[in-house]
Amino acid sequence: MHNLKIISGTAHAELAKSICEYLKLTVCDAYVGRFSEGEIRVKINENVRGKDVFVIQPTCSPPNENLMELLVIIDALKRASSARITAVIPYFGYARQDRKDQPRVPITAKLVANLLTTAGANRILTVDLHAGQIQGFFDIPVDHLFAIGVFHDYFARLKLKDIVVVSPDVGSIKMARAYAKRIGAGLAIIDKRRESPEKTEAMHLLGEVDGKNAIIVDDIIATGGSLIEAVGALKKYKAKSVRAAISHGVLSGPAIERVEKCKDLQELVITDSIPLEDHKKHPRIKVLSLAPLLGEAIRRIHHEESVSSLFD
Ligand code: R5P
Repeated sequence: MHNLKIISGTAHAELAKSICEYLKLTVCDAYVGRFSEGEIRVKINENVRGKDVFVIQPTCSPPNENLMELLVIIDALKRASSARITAVIPYFGYARQDRKDQPRVPITAKLVANLLTTAGANRILTVDLHAGQIQGFFDIPVDHLFAIGVFHDYFARLKLKDIVVVSPDVGSIKMARAYAKRIGAGLAIIDKRRESPEKTEAMHLLGEVDGKNAIIVDDIIATGGSLIEAVGALKKYKAKSVRAAISHGVLSGPAIERVEKCKDLQELVITDSIPLEDHKKHPRIKVLSLAPLLGEAIRRIHHEESVSSLFD
């Protein structure tokens, strides 16, 4: 794999290192820092001419810094004559503004897609996009992986019986249905109303949860409002236990405080698509690594092998 190079921005150096461990490679030597006024400064210290380069950078918080860093790294690689540049974006930020649902609002997911393509990205590798249709915002190949396999392996080890998979809103029904099918469980759906970016309300619950071990599945936990409302509704309808499997732990604003207060939530399982800062670590938050999944996808893309079996 001497033609394969893995470069990391500063968003998630630990994940880049774990991916490299999987691939038995070292992270490419590159300086990614700042000029004194804050502009991003990048210098690739290895020859990348003609190489197949993968840049690991989730566009998590601080999203503007991390996105701009990714664009600057891609520009440096393009000007250094890399043969192919793949932006590996385990968490694709700015994705929730994916349509004009009110007058005079932007579609930031499309804007970010345009920026990445203009910078010089030749393909995108990402995990659990907020909406699958975002793939179509790009005119370059997008390999969209799912964390379902990683979660499934974890929950299978718990050997839970009488499981019901719960979608905390209509947007996550497809994801919840896939989980329910994979583990042979029932499905329940919560009718959620969003009152503001921080506040949601669970209106109704469809499905049978009485006496069951519920697993809430979602793509993002941001402020935790949706999750806490869902836990409340499940307990009200007498679920025996409540756990959550959420791909991206954005965990912003009051999220950790809400998790701490919500003792009915037995466990919140997230992936390492976003680094979990020390002050967000919590005994009921479990982090599963995406490194083997992303590493295997990178290996297959590099060798022009099919990645479709990783989509299951
Ligand atoms: C919404 O459509 C998403 O799937 C998540 O449910 C939402 O982003 C979570 O946000 P919060 O944690 O702030 O309720």
